[in-house]
Amino acid sequence: MLDQAAGEPGPGEAHITVRASGVNPVDYKVYSGAMGADPSRLPMRLGLEAAGVVTAVGPDAAGASGPVVAGDEVIAFRISGGYASALVVPAASLVPKPAALGWPEASGLMLTGATAWHALAATSVAAGDTVLMHGAPGGVGLMAIQLAISRGAHVIATGSPGHHELLREFGATPVAYGDGLADRVRAAAPHGVDVALDLVGTDEALDVSLDLVSDRSRIATIANARRGLELGIKVLGGAPGADPGTEIRAAARPELARMAGDGTLRVLVTDTFALEEAADAHRLLMQGHVAGKLALLP
Ligand SMILES: NC(=O)c1ccc[n+]([C@@H]2O[C@H](COP(=O)([O-])OP(=O)(O)OC[C@H]3O[C@@H](n4cnc5c(N)ncnc54)[C@H](OP(=O)(O)O)[C@@H]3O)[C@@H](O)[C@H]2O)c1
Repeated sequence: MLDQAAGEPGPGEAHITVRASGVNPVDYKVYSGAMGADPSRLPMRLGLEAAGVVTAVGPDAAGASGPVVAGDEVIAFRISGGYASALVVPAASLVPKPAALGWPEASGLMLTGATAWHALAATSVAAGDTVLMHGAPGGVGLMAIQLAISRGAHVIATGSPGHHELLREFGATPVAYGDGLADRVRAAAPHGVDVALDLVGTDEALDVSLDLVSDRSRIATIANARRGLELGIKVLGGAPGADPGTEIRAAARPELARMAGDGTLRVLVTDTFALEEAADAHRLLMQGHVAGKLALLP
């Protein structure tokens, strides 16, 4: 860990005191070697999202929803170095924090929410669709379930049995992943599956999706770009060859804040860690079975 002063905000920037930082799998993937091992990327500033209070602004500091001033409670996304107690961010990354949302929840809304939003848009999920989601208890999955249901879709959600009650609580029909998954999904969706979203990246998730959905433009992966590109399905995110969905994701931010503020979108934070314990949060997340979100508290 490296101590670094946040500095003064320049033009179009804001200084924020961080109240919570969102933790995402990409935060450990960037140093695991999974995304290359170029030493020139060191030292790395981890953390793509945070929530906090604006303490100072530079000239012309405007956020996604208008001017930003000291004292504003904000969500910052997508930023670099969100694992911090204070930092300078582009004001354009800021969205007002809904008053009803707690700090840890606010720090976990945007990355998962925007990804889920993009996945539903890319596969044109609409009222009456049956959507299969693999890896559904995770941060992206719980967002995708709620957003799909708000579009009028029905969701079949894979997860370990210990998370089935949670998936039901969020409005999905749970099924266990593992051998026989396709048959269990057929039994749960006798009229068929229209859309499949791979939110975990396993071969099983992709194979079962191809088995059950004939239209490859309605299958998307956010977690297995290599195979997704080979298969000709929608590949979403920052990997080479993937669709980053930059505009869709940016446009989703105010909508996500509105929905979280009026209670139509819930951010489930299942654990918080002190900022100095970020490594413990990563060890837990790396096991691959966290439900909802983890947050760091400075
Ligand atoms: N492309 C993008 O733009 C983008 C954006 C965000 C995330 N991602 C990636 O998408 C993935 C999910 O992100 P996340 O934040 O939702 O992760 P997460 O919170 O760690 O969730 C992963 C979920 O996958 C489930 N799971 C574990 N093993 C499984 C298996 N064999 N089959 C089916 N489900 C299984 C787990 O549920 P159980 O505990 O019940 O097993 C867990 O809740 C990560 O790989 C992440 O890096 C990509």
